[in-house]
Amino acid sequence: MKDQVYKITETAKKRIDDAVSLKELNDIKVKYLGKKGEITSLLKSLSSLSKEERPAMGKLLNEKRNEIDKLILEKTEYLNKEKLNIKVKEETIDVTANRNKHDVGHFSLINQTMAELEGLFQKMGFDVVSGPEIDTVANVFDDLNSPKNHPSRDLTDTFYLSDNVVLRPHTSSVQIRVMKQGKLPIRMVSAGRTFRNDEVDDTHSPMFHQMECLVVDEGVSLANLKDTINIFIKNMFGDDVKTRFRPHYFPFTEPSLEVDVTCPICKGKGCDACNHTGWSMELLGAGMVHPNVLENCGIDSEKYTGFAFGMGVDRIAMVKHGINDIRLLYDNDKRFIEQF
Ligand code: DAH
Repeated sequence: MKDQVYKITETAKKRIDDAVSLKELNDIKVKYLGKKGEITSLLKSLSSLSKEERPAMGKLLNEKRNEIDKLILEKTEYLNKEKLNIKVKEETIDVTANRNKHDVGHFSLINQTMAELEGLFQKMGFDVVSGPEIDTVANVFDDLNSPKNHPSRDLTDTFYLSDNVVLRPHTSSVQIRVMKQGKLPIRMVSAGRTFRNDEVDDTHSPMFHQMECLVVDEGVSLANLKDTINIFIKNMFGDDVKTRFRPHYFPFTEPSLEVDVTCPICKGKGCDACNHTGWSMELLGAGMVHPNVLENCGIDSEKYTGFAFGMGVDRIAMVKHGINDIRLLYDNDKRFIEQF
């Protein structure tokens, strides 16, 4: 019987060693230690041994049973650990895996709108020029025929860097710069940032954008101005949009006018976007260049005439896309940005 016990134990040990699954281990346990298992059966048959043999054999069988049980337990733990290791390996996150899926950025709606406007005027034969955001009081006010007491000159309206230097409150200063270069005829547009001491609300921002347009040549008339504006508006907002010209006052133009367009959202019927007026108000200011402005820049106002207009780029983008809060243009909220 002793030999049998050692033989059984050896086979059991080898099988435990070879086992690769928990199921196999469980089968081994049943085979040797289960109710009808080989070791259990030998334990049961102890009674058939003589009184002298029984204690030693009993001791040996118990030892072997415990040994096999311990080995099965150890191997179970080992297999469980290995299973976990495999799982961890399989679930490792490859941080480089999505490297081609980064969000691709794009120009902000304001830059897109400025580029669209510039493109439109380029097609009509205009030059695109740029001007500085910091300019002199002469270029921003004096040479534009702005009276010394004009309210826009106030510290409360314009940011002064010194007595003679300001953050430009409009792009009209670029007109002066181009006219002073003395190359005629002129057909130019210029877009960029402008600054005014305004409180932030849904239609105001201390930094906003304008686009300036200037034409100076012989025989330029108000009809040319209206025609140019109408072509531009239809290209920008669609053929079904109507324009309205209202008399206005600007120091640098005579006559001066303001231009509204029918609301592109409701097509003039009236909706929330246009305050139920059917019109998007004050889209741009325009007029025939004042003779004083031409003369200030050394241009013979008897020979040359010109027209000019300036528009709020932010306003154009808001009207075109039905945006009711200027702050959305600057907030960097991806939910907004990604729509354009
Ligand atoms: N500079 C004006 C403003 O900021 C807009 C403007 C009006 C520009 C008439 C012009 C113009 O060129 O002719 O409100």
